[in-house]
Amino acid sequence: MNSDSSRAPKDEGPSGGVLIVDFGAQYCQLIARRVRELGVYSRITVPERAMFTFEHMRPAAVILSGGPRSVYAHDAPDLDAAILEQGVPVLGICYGLQWLAQHTGGEVTPAQAGAEYGRTELEVLDDADFLAGARQNGIVWMSHGDKVSKLGPGFEVLAKSEPCPFAVVADRSRKFFGLQFHPEVAHTVDGARMLENFVLHVAQCSTDWNPGSIVDNKIAAVQELVGDAAGQTGGGDSSVAAVLIHRAIGERLHCVFVDNGLLRHGEREGVESLFRDHYHMDLEVVDASERFLGELEGVSDPEQKRKIIGRVFVEVFRERAASKRNAGFLGQGTLYPDVIESVAAHGGATSTIKSHHNVGGLPEDLDLELVEPLRDLFKDEVRAIGRELGLPSSLVDRQPFPGPGLAVRCLGDITREKLEPLRAADRIVREEIESRDLHENLWQYFAVYVPQKSVGVKGDARVYEDVCILRLVSSLDAMTADWELLPAEVLSRISNRILNEVAGFSRVCLDISSKPPATIEWE
Ligand code: XMP
Repeated sequence: MNSDSSRAPKDEGPSGGVLIVDFGAQYCQLIARRVRELGVYSRITVPERAMFTFEHMRPAAVILSGGPRSVYAHDAPDLDAAILEQGVPVLGICYGLQWLAQHTGGEVTPAQAGAEYGRTELEVLDDADFLAGARQNGIVWMSHGDKVSKLGPGFEVLAKSEPCPFAVVADRSRKFFGLQFHPEVAHTVDGARMLENFVLHVAQCSTDWNPGSIVDNKIAAVQELVGDAAGQTGGGDSSVAAVLIHRAIGERLHCVFVDNGLLRHGEREGVESLFRDHYHMDLEVVDASERFLGELEGVSDPEQKRKIIGRVFVEVFRERAASKRNAGFLGQGTLYPDVIESVAAHGGATSTIKSHHNVGGLPEDLDLELVEPLRDLFKDEVRAIGRELGLPSSLVDRQPFPGPGLAVRCLGDITREKLEPLRAADRIVREEIESRDLHENLWQYFAVYVPQKSVGVKGDARVYEDVCILRLVSSLDAMTADWELLPAEVLSRISNRILNEVAGFSRVCLDISSKPPATIEWE
């Protein structure tokens, strides 16, 4: 699978958006989000497919991202230079600027004082368009080892910085702009304004990317693509996908909810009441917990567990979908970051950290074509369209729960004896946090089962039981996360309740690790 699926040309989003070419940038998703925050559709593609995607998408502007390589290295990522002849404005950022300079008669050399990283002040020389409203001596964030040493014909300098004479350059006749720093990161004080100037004023992109238009666009795309479909429901994202597909094809959608025995307390009942009773959807609930737990017996390796859960899910789903004789499509709630994070989009530069089972894990011979209406959306956009579709806040705004469920929070082998206390502790954590509305500042909050015995004393008797870890994190997109603290009385209440109400734990500990280097889940 590729981050840029050619299989769904009908699902391109509105034209008039921004095509972002990813040269391997750490911040590429941030660029895409910043553009979408302006109400403009954006899409990321890899350099090799840039012209193909350009022709499909017909964007109103192109942004060339930064990247870790040198443009003059023999294996530097390259792009069909025809992209410069399409008559649309182009913005090059860092490596993107260097690539632009190299292909417009300029020169790139190693930065004389070595690499330039971190903060520097920007001296604005010309604030007519791209730099309109940018502060004099505003801080910008540089991170580069090479720099443009000579500009090609037609280019002029709009701003410089102490180490960098060509910090912002432009060829206004062709609407080509280039920046040696990163406008998308928060440390660049007027970066958002510069992107806005480029996207809205220079390129005059269409500002039609809002929850209402996304819903209309997606419904039309699904209607065009799909006959009868089987959809999986359960998590927040797949529920939004299910409701969207239901809007598009109505009773031809058959939903299957697989209870894998690794769900949270009350989850299955919640899905049943929402989909069956509220939306009157054709919902089949399959209790496959015996099968999942049987296959997981004795397995303690995290990746093994994920693979087993992914495989058994497909087997169960395939059996149920086969019973829906007309189904030719499978609806899933895959999100854009899942797609980007799970593939090695740059020949291995983006490594797979964990195998997310809803992406890439489905076999070729499933005989069902995938329908993934959220595949190009970020989490906050999915939440916005969930609200637009009338889904309750308890579902749309709830914390993410991983596909492999409690399995990735139960270290070692998976047994009912461990799952039961973990589920009970998780319920207590949620109850105590949600009843005080403390969850609004948390991305995720949950319990982890660590099978490490330690001594305790309960009711005058010595116990030798396992450890329950509290994981409370804030994050914007799960790519990075920080640990969070709750008021001492809340922590104390959670701890007391777990130790008193749940058999199996003699100790409750708090995880104070950020991501990176830790991950949010423990496996
Ligand atoms: P990590 O642990 O990698 O998690 O920091 C990042 C985010 O992804 C969720 N997660 C998953 N979601 N299938 C999913 O659908 C998975 O296999 C999976 N693994 C992790 C995790 O809960 C966090 O929000």
